[in-house]
Amino acid sequence: MKHETLFVGTTPGLEGVLAEELHELGFPGEPSSGGVTLEAPAGSYRFINLWSRLASRVLLRVAEVASVDALRKLPLKGYSADFEIDAFGEGAAAWGGVLKSTPGAVKLLLRGTKGRCQVSIDTSGELLHFRGYRQEVGRAPMRETLAAGVLRLAKWKPEEPLWDVMCGSGTLLIEATEMAAGLAPGRNRKFAFESFASHDAAGFQALPRSRTAVKGDLFGSDLNAGALGTTRRNAKRAGVFELLKLERLDATKLVKRGDTGLVIANLPYGKRVGERDELGKLYRSLGKSLRAACPGWYFAFLLEEGAEHLGLTIAERHRVSNGGLDCEVVLGQM
Ligand SMILES: C[S@@+](CC[C@H](N)C(=O)[O-])C[C@H]1O[C@@H](n2cnc3c(N)ncnc32)[C@H](O)[C@@H]1O
Repeated sequence: MKHETLFVGTTPGLEGVLAEELHELGFPGEPSSGGVTLEAPAGSYRFINLWSRLASRVLLRVAEVASVDALRKLPLKGYSADFEIDAFGEGAAAWGGVLKSTPGAVKLLLRGTKGRCQVSIDTSGELLHFRGYRQEVGRAPMRETLAAGVLRLAKWKPEEPLWDVMCGSGTLLIEATEMAAGLAPGRNRKFAFESFASHDAAGFQALPRSRTAVKGDLFGSDLNAGALGTTRRNAKRAGVFELLKLERLDATKLVKRGDTGLVIANLPYGKRVGERDELGKLYRSLGKSLRAACPGWYFAFLLEEGAEHLGLTIAERHRVSNGGLDCEVVLGQM
């Protein structure tokens, strides 16, 4: 069977867990900066686009050429008659000027390096964190791919209870709920490969979009009633609203719920000095509240800085980029 080389991109900091996810999906590969490179049977990009929660896009490496003439002669018609050219790296202007660029067409990435040009086709189109359900966001939303990455870093199992104590517009919660429901993250969206000239629509439709569901207790709470409304509507659009429970609660005044599980949150960040003092206070109260309400639970928090104010024993820290902001995921046991 013909094999192809794919580069599956992700958020910086999630390369290792993306490699783990792809391995579980049946595509072992090598993590490197920004993603994972793998060899897979032709057309595997369809399944990876549909099922990877951590991938931001899937690039099909078509060739590496050493001259503009070779680039001009590449047989690309099976993919598309037109491409939007995205040239970068060494000699980007020279490589980028060889082929006509049609805005909005399938993206052709040309990466110049050491006198050669690496040619890739973007099989995803819109970045994969666009799952298709989130038409509304809160004040500080996170990408769905990062949310899935935090869940993986925490080693959460979908059959375990989960409580997002500051759920905002519900990104972490909805990712977790979809995982428990066994739903493919890409089931409600379109991909660039669907417009390839050689696309086999019936073959793609035949790929599974769901797997065995497990029963999990999934809770989300937030102080802001408006944020909870956004979560509710996003969860309805994703088709998972019935599977989660929402409640308006102050995370600094929680009462005990269940015996064990994962308590998780994308915590508020403070940019200015005054805000940072407030944030220290909030984190201290949150830590105190969690120690009282969730003994025996493990935790995963995404934050920019100030984890020490939580007063929790942190077992692992992972640096990740949250929309370009250098953040960390802190993990431990309450
Ligand atoms: C960074 S946002 C969470 C973003 C969320 N992960 C999303 O993707 O939309 C932080 C959330 O913490 C909530 N929050 C702040 N203080 C809180 C408190 N004391 N109790 C509960 N929620 C609080 C805010 O209302 C906000 O929704």
